[in-house]
Amino acid sequence: MTAPFAERLLAWFDHHGRHDLPWQHPRTPYRVWLSEIMLQQTQVATVIPYFERFLERFPDLDALAAAETDEVLALWSGLGYYARARNLHRAAQQMVDAGVPATVEGWAELPGVGPSTAAAIVAQAFDERAVILDGNVKRVLARHAAVDTPQEAAATQRELWALAEACTPADRAADYTQAIMDLGATVCRRGTPRCEQCPVADDCRARIEGRTAELPVRRRRKARPVRERVLLWLEDGEGRLFLEKRPPSGIWGGLASLPVSKTSDGADSRLAELGMQRSGDWHSLGQVRHAFSHFELAAEVQGAAVSHAAVAELPGEWHAIERLVDEPPVGLPAPVQRLIRERGAPAFA
Ligand code: ADE
Repeated sequence: MTAPFAERLLAWFDHHGRHDLPWQHPRTPYRVWLSEIMLQQTQVATVIPYFERFLERFPDLDALAAAETDEVLALWSGLGYYARARNLHRAAQQMVDAGVPATVEGWAELPGVGPSTAAAIVAQAFDERAVILDGNVKRVLARHAAVDTPQEAAATQRELWALAEACTPADRAADYTQAIMDLGATVCRRGTPRCEQCPVADDCRARIEGRTAELPVRRRRKARPVRERVLLWLEDGEGRLFLEKRPPSGIWGGLASLPVSKTSDGADSRLAELGMQRSGDWHSLGQVRHAFSHFELAAEVQGAAVSHAAVAELPGEWHAIERLVDEPPVGLPAPVQRLIRERGAPAFA
């Protein structure tokens, strides 16, 4: 007779799970919530330094709620999916006004917190039984029970929630939650699962039937349309780069970016709109590609030294390039930050 799923998983977690993650010590609601939001689209190893820097600057809810959105975005710079940072900031303000929720339903009402994240917070912060179903958990459960209908279908989602409900134990809520996420991230991996290390391999139908590679079943995604753009690298002759503040909604909402032009031919009229004049030719400074959820950006970077009237009302700011490399004072889109790091120095000094 095989022991229950949760019992085997917890015994594995005690020896092989992650027990030294920064949000586990101490597991306060604020720290757990912040970590879960950062971990929504991002791996643990990437999140850890962001988490630590963020906590240093905003040690508690009050500090975060009182901050300027721009500073929150600056600390998020490079993590991507910036709606998370804006929602986090709004949710902090709501919690300062209305209190920190104690239930899954209460957490799920906050911006940026879906049902699985809400459950992960309650289970870890309060050690109360709550059922999670994030991407890693879906993969574990779909393989274990050989769920072979497309993941995105509503009926599959219902089946996976029912499996998650049935597997979640009454006790050790925080540990079980971390355990099943760790299993998904380190053993039941998307590419090559390490079934020989898995505590629930004995009755895993995907393993028994040799189907781990085909499960879970994903609908084939349509290729994303490619959007071609030109990013303008504008220097002022004093080693400073111009960054335009993006409108609050839309891609890169609220972040500081290189100005965008739809075409190379439009670059000069964008300059004129900014009240600037070129003092030399345009130079090609490379390409930037970045996948968004609904399209792929393929941008050509065109650079020039420019001058501008001192009085011009600029929709952005000049920033010393060295400072942008080391410690950007504003939120930058990840591909723009990468470009600045790669170049590392002024191009027209
Ligand atoms: N993904 C989401 N939450 C996580 C956590 N607490 N540990 C590891 N991966 C996660």
